[in-house]
Amino acid sequence: MSILSASLARVKPSPTIAVTTRAAELKAGGRDIIGLGAGEPDFDTPQNIKAAAIAAINAGKTKYTPVDGIPELKTAICTKFARENHLTYTPKQVSVGTGGKQVLYNAFMATLNPGDEVIIPAPYWVSYPDMVLLAGGTPVIVTAKIDTAFKITPEQLEAAITPKTKWFLFNSPSNPTGAGYSWDELKALTEVLMRHPHVWVMTDDMYEHLVFDDFKFCTPAEVEPGLYDQTLTVNGVSKAYAMTGWRIGYAAGPIELITAMRKVQSQSTSNPCSISQHAAVAALNGPQDYLATNRALFQRRRDLVVAGLNACKGISCPVPEGAFYVYPDISGCIGKTSAGGTRITDDEAFATALLDETGVAVVFGAAFGLSPNFRVSYATSDEALTEACARIQSFCAGLA
Ligand SMILES: Cc1ncc(COP(=O)(O)O)c(C=O)c1O
Repeated sequence: MSILSASLARVKPSPTIAVTTRAAELKAGGRDIIGLGAGEPDFDTPQNIKAAAIAAINAGKTKYTPVDGIPELKTAICTKFARENHLTYTPKQVSVGTGGKQVLYNAFMATLNPGDEVIIPAPYWVSYPDMVLLAGGTPVIVTAKIDTAFKITPEQLEAAITPKTKWFLFNSPSNPTGAGYSWDELKALTEVLMRHPHVWVMTDDMYEHLVFDDFKFCTPAEVEPGLYDQTLTVNGVSKAYAMTGWRIGYAAGPIELITAMRKVQSQSTSNPCSISQHAAVAALNGPQDYLATNRALFQRRRDLVVAGLNACKGISCPVPEGAFYVYPDISGCIGKTSAGGTRITDDEAFATALLDETGVAVVFGAAFGLSPNFRVSYATSDEALTEACARIQSFCAGLA
C-alpha cells in the first residue's frame, strides 16, 4: 500500500515552479540563462513597507496574531475595497492568509464536497485545477481561444453551468494571458450568473493594479451588486507591491464563508506572518504613487515583448490588457525541427528545445490548459527581454 494519499495522486506539482527551478539549476551550472518563467515583479518592495516591517519587529510584533489577520490589516483591507472597488465590507467579512494562494485554497477546502463542480476558464493559472482536485471537487474547464482574445463568452459560461456547479472562478487580468475583461464583457457574464443563483463567484483580482492603456479594472460584485452575497473577492499584496516573499493575501465575502475559511486556516497554518501583516498595512494605507510608475514600466516592457515575439517566424502574439504576461500562439512552429535537431511536436517540446538551445526559459502552454502556446513573464529587465526576443527570433528562424 502506498504511503501517499489518493487525493495527492490526482494533482501535479506546479509546472511554473518546475521551470523556474530548472532554469536556476542550469544557471548555477554556468549556462547563460534568461528566465522568463517566474511570476513576480523584478523590483524591490517599496521602502515605506520595509520600514513598517522593521518597526513591527522592533515593537515586538512577533507573536501569534488572530488566525485570519490583525484588526488593523482587516480595516485597511475594507478601506482598500471601498476606495478602489466601491465595495463595502466590514472586518468580519475579511480573511487574511499566507498569500492569495492559501486564501483560494481555504475557500475550496471550506466549500467543496465530492462531485461539486468549479468552472475554470482556460488558459488558467496552473494552481486552480489542482487546488479544486485536492479539495475533492471537479474542475470544469471552459476554453477561451485566441480568437476571443482569451476571454470566455456568456454562451460558454451558460453551457458549462449544471446543478452541481458550486463556483465560477474568475481571473482578470489573467495569468497566463494578461487578458482583462471590460465592464461590459464582465456584465455579460454576471447576467448569466444572475440566472443561476446556486453558483458562487470566486474572483481572483491579484493583477488589479497592472492594467495598461485605457483599460479600467472591474470586479464582479462591483459590476453586479446582486452577486455581492455569493461572491468571494480575492486579492493580495504580492504583485501590486512587489511583496511575493512576504506571503500576504486576503479575501472578502459573506461572513459564513469567511468563518469557515478561518476554521480551515486555524487547523493548518494559523496566522500569516505577523511582521508581514504590519508591512501589508503600510502597503495598503501608504502612498500609492508607485503603482502608476510600475504600470508605465510594465506597459513599456509589454510593448517591447509583443513586438519582439511578433517578429518571430511562426509566432503570433496578441496585445494583452494587463498583468505581466503574454501568451503567444506557436501554431506556425509545430511539426518543424529545431536547428539543434529537436522535433517540435507540441509546446512542451518547443519550450524544452528553446531552453536547451538558447537558454531562454518559458512555460509551455499545456500547463495552463491551452496549446500550442507558451507564457512569457516580462517582469524582468529591458535588456534581458531584448536579448530573449532576439534568441527566440533566431530559434524560430532556425526551425525547418
Ligand atoms: C492569478 C494568480 N492568483 C494568485 C496568485 C498567488 O499569489 P500569492 O503570491 O499572493 O500567493 C498568483 C501568483 O502567481 C497568481 O498568478
